[in-house]
Amino acid sequence: MSTSPFLSNCTADTIRSAAAALKAGHLVAFPTETVYGLGADARNPDAVKRIYQVKGRPADHPLIVHISSINEIDKWALDIPEYALKLAREFWPGAMTLILKKSEIAKDFVTGGQNTVGLRVPSHPVANALIAEFEKISNSAIAAPSANRFGQISPTCASDVSAEIGNFLSSTDIILDGGRSNIGIESTIIDCTNNVPRILRNGSITHEDVLRINNDLQSQLTKTEVKFSGSFERHYAPNCKVIVGRESIQGEGFLALNTIPTPQGMIRLGYPESDDEFARSLYSTFRLADSMHLKSLVVVEPIGPGIAKAIRERLSKASYPLESP
Ligand code: TXA
Ligand code: MG
Repeated sequence: MSTSPFLSNCTADTIRSAAAALKAGHLVAFPTETVYGLGADARNPDAVKRIYQVKGRPADHPLIVHISSINEIDKWALDIPEYALKLAREFWPGAMTLILKKSEIAKDFVTGGQNTVGLRVPSHPVANALIAEFEKISNSAIAAPSANRFGQISPTCASDVSAEIGNFLSSTDIILDGGRSNIGIESTIIDCTNNVPRILRNGSITHEDVLRINNDLQSQLTKTEVKFSGSFERHYAPNCKVIVGRESIQGEGFLALNTIPTPQGMIRLGYPESDDEFARSLYSTFRLADSMHLKSLVVVEPIGPGIAKAIRERLSKASYPLESP
């Protein structure tokens, strides 16, 4: 177990203290079902500024505001289209972030100066309890990016949070330890500012799920879906070189579904039995490769629809070359 001074277990009492810490302007890293978030009071400019400092993240990158339920949506967003409400009713609490036109209380310091706000209701019981408790005492919500340094791998357990950002936290900040994140990759982000939804980042809520809930929009949706290409092509990357394919490199790391045999001379780092397990363990496998000081990690990507698509998106970013060609 990590000896980080910030780590706290999750009881009703520690969650109440964490909510009070947020109210006092401190940072609280907390578990969600996707990855761990680094939270601050979404209405406190100084607290939000500290998130950017701890992450080393440029100030024009917007944060997701985490709310306790769909009932809070009107507080943070305006002109919400019916299709967005349908998605929220179906998939919240869950691994879906909606980008909506922002209301007056969603300030530029949270939205990176955009006129939109990202909203999510996580389903992890600790996240839920923390957000609900914080809303009760503050009339605010929790702004939180993934709890990693900018461009690095999102943490999926509390000790990974501590390894990522422990050196940048203050003694009054807290890391709530709620075990391992069950999904393991970040939420699906859906732009809801036009007449049809558009997926900006793939996740466990899939294109097919969005279509199912809004089948009246089917023809337009298929046409307008575009893959998010953020301002930084390389992201979610370990220090070792991620190679997507079936190369065989002596003494280097290998990750594939358990049905695929290990090439001779390679070090097998995982045997995920399903796409869900692949997603759940992907980032911890990246961290394992780095802790073993491997130079390369060869990954055979899962080929299916659904979450496999989100895994492929992460792998394409993780394998993007460091230097421009
Ligand atoms: O699963 C998740 O989404 C996790 C957990 C903690 O909720 N959070 C997360 O946050 O992954 P972050 O900041 O690491 O990634 C959020 C992405 C960023 O690429 C950001 O640019 C985009 O969401 N985003 C947030 N608000 C936005 C907005 N108003 N417009 C466009 N993109 C937005
Ligand atoms: Mg992130």
